[in-house]
Amino acid sequence: MNATPFVPEALLVTGGCGFIGSNFIRMLLTDPQFADDRFRIINLDKLTYAGNLENLTDVEGHSRYQFVHGDIADADFVNHCLNDHGIDAVVNFAAESHVDRSILDSGPFVQTNIVGTQVLLDASRQNEIKRYLQVSTDEVYGSLGSSGFFTETTPLAPNSPYSASKAAADLLVRSYCHTFGFPGIITRCSNNYGPYQFPEKLLPLFIANALEDRQLPVYGDGRQVRDWIHVSDHCRGIAAALHQSSPGEVYNFGGECELENLRLTETLLELLNKPDSLINFVKDRPGHDRRYAIDCAKAKQELGWQPRIPFETGLKETIEWYLEHQQWTDRIRSGEYRIYYDQQYRDRS
Ligand code: NAD
Ligand code: DAU
Repeated sequence: MNATPFVPEALLVTGGCGFIGSNFIRMLLTDPQFADDRFRIINLDKLTYAGNLENLTDVEGHSRYQFVHGDIADADFVNHCLNDHGIDAVVNFAAESHVDRSILDSGPFVQTNIVGTQVLLDASRQNEIKRYLQVSTDEVYGSLGSSGFFTETTPLAPNSPYSASKAAADLLVRSYCHTFGFPGIITRCSNNYGPYQFPEKLLPLFIANALEDRQLPVYGDGRQVRDWIHVSDHCRGIAAALHQSSPGEVYNFGGECELENLRLTETLLELLNKPDSLINFVKDRPGHDRRYAIDCAKAKQELGWQPRIPFETGLKETIEWYLEHQQWTDRIRSGEYRIYYDQQYRDRS
């Protein structure tokens, strides 16, 4: 851990128009806890199907914020971007993030998650940036049995094309730290929930379906276990790691809230006052990881971080948010996503 906190002058946030990135940027610009952080934020996003400028309309025009449209895998563009904006720190959220899509086509995952990370690392070296934080996932550790937890030293054993591409990126960051003394940090987090999550992921998908009285496609027996963390707790962890971590460190973040998918689905239906008959068991996700569970003792000890939002409170607030923002979901579901959605679920039922 760093005795003197690191504070950048200009922070490049990649993938800032997605779910976690947009929550992270909003937190840095509007949360009173971060009011003293006077650095500029440049948001570089390709605006893929998952990137939505609408997620940040409330901070558009903020004096310390600028959006730049581009691809992290475009070396010339990224080099110029770092140079032109005087970037001295990078937080890389940009990724293809959905496991089911990686099973349909791993190409974009290799291109953005691996090649994109390599391009960012080289441009960061060339521009002598002082901190680089790679936002990674607990999925790089593979799957657990009924007991045990992932720690930062658990061997990487990714099972899906998505997690394999994230593990490859982590290993690139690790290798740059080892070989070049590169100031890289890796964070690995469990399943996030909260506002602005693209409605292909379990929670926003099931909320939207339930509100329309459509079926909720539970994969396999629904007994898979995920650890759930509110996105704001994850974002606070990333900020803590950026400011306080020494280069070369890895930190796990988790919500300490393990739940079977089926239990989560039943709770959701109860809170929405909808019947269990909406549950539809469909064909399992190929290679589906059975259980994730996170040991985040290191982050607690070294960063003074811990998850703050109890799941029951966070889930109720999240449901409220999606109820109040149904048009946001509708706009997404009426476009390209709908085609993907139909293709996915016609094949499964
Ligand atoms: P998301 O899919 O909601 O957003 C991804 C963003 O990246 C989008 O705005 C998209 O336009 C952008 N993007 C994609 N390819 C790009 C490219 N080539 N160049 C520039 N921008 C590009 O994802 P998310 O759920 O917010 O996840 C963000 C990061 O956090 C990812 O790296 C993911 O692996 C990691 N992560 C996610 C979770 C989770 O539960 N969602 C948990 C742990 C880690
Ligand atoms: O663990 C962190 C990871 O969490 C992140 O790295 C990924 O970017 C993020 O997408 C998420 O991955 P999951 O595969 O766990 O999330 P998803 O919401 O797709 O699925 C959660 C669980 O619910 C998983 O066990 C699969 C199951 N599921 C999902 C969908 C979309 C269903 O049963 N039915 C569904 O329709």
